[in-house]
Amino acid sequence: MDRYIIEGGRRLHGRARVKGAKNAALPMIAAALLMDPGHTLTLHNVPDLSDIQVMLALLEALGCTVQRDKETVFITVTDNRPIRAPYEIVSTMRASICVLGPLIARRQQAHVSLPGGCAIGVRPVNLHLRGLETMGAKIRVDHGYIIANAKRLHGGVVYLGGEFGSTVTGTANILMAATLARGTTEIEYAALEPEVQELARLLVRMGARIDGIGSYRLTIHGVEHLHSTEATVMPDRIEAGTFMAAAAITRGDVTVENVRFEDMVAVVEVLKAMGCRVDFDSYNVRVRGPKRIKPVDVTTLPYPGFPTDLQSQFMACLAVASGISVVTEKIYPDRFMHVPELGRMGAQIRKQDAAAIIVGVKELHGAPVMASDLRAGAGLIIAGLAAKGFTEISRIYHVDRGYDRVEKRFNAIGARIHRVAEKVEQRKTRKAE
Ligand code: EPU
Repeated sequence: MDRYIIEGGRRLHGRARVKGAKNAALPMIAAALLMDPGHTLTLHNVPDLSDIQVMLALLEALGCTVQRDKETVFITVTDNRPIRAPYEIVSTMRASICVLGPLIARRQQAHVSLPGGCAIGVRPVNLHLRGLETMGAKIRVDHGYIIANAKRLHGGVVYLGGEFGSTVTGTANILMAATLARGTTEIEYAALEPEVQELARLLVRMGARIDGIGSYRLTIHGVEHLHSTEATVMPDRIEAGTFMAAAAITRGDVTVENVRFEDMVAVVEVLKAMGCRVDFDSYNVRVRGPKRIKPVDVTTLPYPGFPTDLQSQFMACLAVASGISVVTEKIYPDRFMHVPELGRMGAQIRKQDAAAIIVGVKELHGAPVMASDLRAGAGLIIAGLAAKGFTEISRIYHVDRGYDRVEKRFNAIGARIHRVAEKVEQRKTRKAE
């Protein structure tokens, strides 16, 4: 696996284009399992990421053939008998849980490895399971696998509120399952995230009957079959926000292309409060960073609030603000693995329960640091872009899960990020962990 070496302190300037959204594409790919053999789902603007490759490999294991032509993916169901999502795949990517709903709905059975915890916290799937049980699925956990059966799911009222709000992939799972259930399903407290709305719109194109898209209450009238269709994956709002944070921290002037304003309202508010100038023009947004970032208090919340997936990138910005900021995490109370790494670069951050108190410093300095997960890695890149000297980020395979060749796109707007292949001895050490 590779490392990044970032030569910091360079002002970013130019245009960067956002790719398709990983978190929209993943459940959309899983939706192919709802079709009968012979049907094809064609998705355009699918980013070339390791998480996407994992999901496509999982669909192949579940009886689909997959073809890729640049950013278009064709998924054809050839055999609808396989029902097992093995530990080897699910343990590498939690979003694999999105096959559970479609498998039970279309194939009446599913054996899906229970996803474990991960670097950002505990991440249970109790709400997914409770919802499917409400719809008539018999579910037990056996040797680490969710074993689910249902002759045919039936409609019902499924409440998806949990301690931290609704669940994004849980809503996706119940929504997909309900499209083929007998009767009407009402999802109460559905996740509002644009990626969920995008999935719902895809399902409608496949023949599903869904009312209330974009609201807390989704009403799904079950149908007998879903069919071939094609759709384009929405732009990645988290990638857009990452480029915007890079513009802010480098006093840059970056136009981020292929952004939907309505997805970014909370993020733009924070950028403005930080002193950035932000101008939208149709699907482009120009962000000009201030001389010195102003301190801001940020709380992550379910959409339309500020996204947890941008928390670390904005914390990196606030680390060089002209005062004290507080970042509160309301989705994943333990998602602070980047805090000690930012500390190694000279940031002054104290974690207190689910919040971090950030005392802005004049500048960060380069240091060897480690990406513990995808977004933590992105936060370290943002910090490295502004830091004095060289920042070396290891374990960037986490970053590759969610950003397609991001160093090339940063370098095209003035950054200096080198990707260095990991030495053989390091590879051996990691294997032994
Ligand atoms: N939760 C429960 N029970 C459940 C499900 C979730 O208590 O059954 C809790 C979680 O522990 C968490 C909160 O509810 O505290 C929200 O979790 P959610 O289920 O919404 O998260 P997710 O669906 O597993 C998706 C994204 C994440 C993103 C979150 C929150 C995908 C594939 N993943 O995860 O993206 O952080 O929503 O917006 O869509 C990332 O891209 O880096 C990433 C982690």
